[in-house]
Amino acid sequence: MNNPYLPQAYKILEIRKETAIDYTFKVAFQGNVIGGQFMEISIPGVGEAPISICNFDKTSLEMTIRRVGRLTDKIFNLQAGDSLFMRGPYGNGFDTNIFKNKDVAFIAGGTGLAPIRKTIDHFMTGIDETKILEVLVGFKSPSDRLFIDDLDRWSKFGNVTVTVDKGDDTWQGETGLITTHIGKLDLSNVKEKIAVVVGPPIMMKFTTLELIKNGFKEENIWVSFERKMSCGIGKCGHCKIDETYICLDGPVFNYIKAKTLID
Ligand SMILES: Cc1cc2nc3c(=O)[nH]c(=O)nc-3n(C[C@H](O)[C@H](O)[C@H](O)COP(=O)(O)OP(=O)(O)OC[C@H]3O[C@@H](n4cnc5c(N)ncnc54)[C@H](O)[C@@H]3O)c2cc1C
Ligand code: FES
Repeated sequence: MNNPYLPQAYKILEIRKETAIDYTFKVAFQGNVIGGQFMEISIPGVGEAPISICNFDKTSLEMTIRRVGRLTDKIFNLQAGDSLFMRGPYGNGFDTNIFKNKDVAFIAGGTGLAPIRKTIDHFMTGIDETKILEVLVGFKSPSDRLFIDDLDRWSKFGNVTVTVDKGDDTWQGETGLITTHIGKLDLSNVKEKIAVVVGPPIMMKFTTLELIKNGFKEENIWVSFERKMSCGIGKCGHCKIDETYICLDGPVFNYIKAKTLID
């Protein structure tokens, strides 16, 4: 019988430094992936953690990993050519049909940009069309910015706002929390506009409240959770809130459901 917990070794093709503590790992991988899904990555004898897939094509996938603890410390010692143990992809991911021919605002805080990167790219590169496409992303400081090249490229196709909590001597862009920029989104058709919000829990809470205050309908808001998980496949109950398994039913939820998932 197949053991669903058994990871397989995949070759690391490339490692890109995004910031001092965030590296993007490109790994050889063939299989079906949906933007917003995650992998369980591991090092035998060290540990396992869920990591969002931020990019993929027919032969590879990419994950942007923040160095925060036991496993990610060890992962940062790996080099291109080494093996990374993974199982997945897991979770529901984003249904791109929701966004087609709509005004859409993708709103991310910090590493929250990783799970929506591929879905934003899908629309920015014209694979499917939205009407007005906006990206609003906030980082702590200029040196915490992720996917700088992508943000630059996307700004040629849609309205991209990058804000930092605190600038430095060279920063000439926007400052202030994401919530202070919500009112500057194109709200001309706000009752029909879709918003996707991903980031730390406190950012998601206040951003969704601000969206609703500005006229967004709850059913048009989508979020993705990064709740503590273990098995990732609906077996251990670690991520369960009431009857909902975040790992199986999510991590992407409509706000109507998401607002009930508070523990
Ligand atoms: C669906 C999903 C998607 C995710 N996607 C990503 C992603 O794309 N990129 C990414 O980088 N992360 C992502 N995460 C988060 C990632 O899984 C966690 O950060 C994971 O715990 C890292 O494992 P670790 O062993 O390196 O860290 P751990 O050692 O488990 O530490 C995790 C956190 O706990 C803290 N901690 C550790 N030990 C202690 C202690 N003794 N006392 C107090 N605090 C402590 C650490 O400072 C750190 O903040 C995702 C999580 C989920 C659920
Ligand atoms: S993580 Fe085990 S049931 Fe969701």
